[in-house]
Amino acid sequence: MPGMEVYGAEERKEVMDVLETGVLFRYGHEHLRKGMWKAAEFEEEVCKQTGANYAHAVSSGTAAVTSIMAATGIGHGDEVIVPPYTFVAPIEAVFLAGALPVFAEIDETICLSPEGIEAAITPNTKAVLLIHMCGAAADLDGILEVCKKHNLVLLEDCGQAMGASYKGKSVGLHGAAGAFSFDYFKITTCGEGGMTITNKEEIYKNIDQVADHGHTHEGNNRGMEDHYIMGSNFRIGEINAAIGLAQMRKLPWILEQNRKNKKYIKDRLKKIGGLTFRKMDDELGDSATFLNFFVPTKEKATELFAQLAEDGVGGVANWYTNMYHFINQWDHIKEIKFPSKLAINDLGAPQDYKNLSLPKSEDVISRLVSIGISCTWKEDELAAYTDKVITSIKKVL
Ligand SMILES: Cc1ncc(COP(=O)(O)O)c(C=O)c1O
Repeated sequence: MPGMEVYGAEERKEVMDVLETGVLFRYGHEHLRKGMWKAAEFEEEVCKQTGANYAHAVSSGTAAVTSIMAATGIGHGDEVIVPPYTFVAPIEAVFLAGALPVFAEIDETICLSPEGIEAAITPNTKAVLLIHMCGAAADLDGILEVCKKHNLVLLEDCGQAMGASYKGKSVGLHGAAGAFSFDYFKITTCGEGGMTITNKEEIYKNIDQVADHGHTHEGNNRGMEDHYIMGSNFRIGEINAAIGLAQMRKLPWILEQNRKNKKYIKDRLKKIGGLTFRKMDDELGDSATFLNFFVPTKEKATELFAQLAEDGVGGVANWYTNMYHFINQWDHIKEIKFPSKLAINDLGAPQDYKNLSLPKSEDVISRLVSIGISCTWKEDELAAYTDKVITSIKKVL
């Protein structure tokens, strides 16, 4: 993935700044830190690039989702509409917040669809946790309309979509708040880290306090401020923030390369015939970490993945069978397995998780092929890789 591909001297320089002062903590210690506030700079850079009024860095993408849910009042007993195709982190976050996940259908956007959301709404629905999968935005116009009509809070998990936008506005700013991941597998990484963004001051203040035991960070003596709410520890450290800052500065270049490389492969794949591509309302806003396409049937997809493996073509993801990204691999979640009691154990599940019927999602994910895009491919490497992919596809279609 791009973030780890471009790790280099710039990241090391930012980290060395921190190691030289020894101030690993993001707050206080003004007399030691020689004016360096990496977490704050990281947040400023994210505001600059996303256009958000507020950003608050946290320790992981999971912590970011947890923080935005708490900060917008989503928790105990609230039904939250989620997709059956995502990395499991946000689904776990909903359970652990005491809320109740309700699985709804996705469509060829590979994200929740407006129709899927509408069909899953009950009188107890409080929020939609929209997950912008594989680097690009969902059908935000349609989803915002449904949320407005039913008075639902829209939260955006942009864990996989830093740099993506929808009709000119960054993902994460279309609803109440957005959450990003900077783990090692993302377009920008700091090893482990997360980011929240919002345009609403009240939500930002809640996130800031939730992520640090209720400290308001007013004045310059953390711990001596008034405390209005409880929180927890979702803080990012200065070393991780330093790396995140260097990576964010590289994001414009990464986006440019990703988009160029994705377009090259897509243009060539279009000529084969028989393939369809991920539906995107605003392809220009795609961060282009993946090229997603569909083959006509589940059987053809199985054949293609086998062929790609036989031909030694790497970097192609089959989410239907691996990596815990689709609900068919989530028995532990469907059985609500956790070492301690969760709210849902007392409140009851809103759906029969073990017997869910999500035929549209099943159809879409069983036919989905995702090619990971590298931002460092040289022209000849890209051409040779694309040749190999096309040869495998032609053998199967
Ligand atoms: C959509 C999505 N949300 C949240 C997360 C969790 O991020 P983290 O690993 O930083 O906790 C991930 C991680 O893969 C993700 O893909």
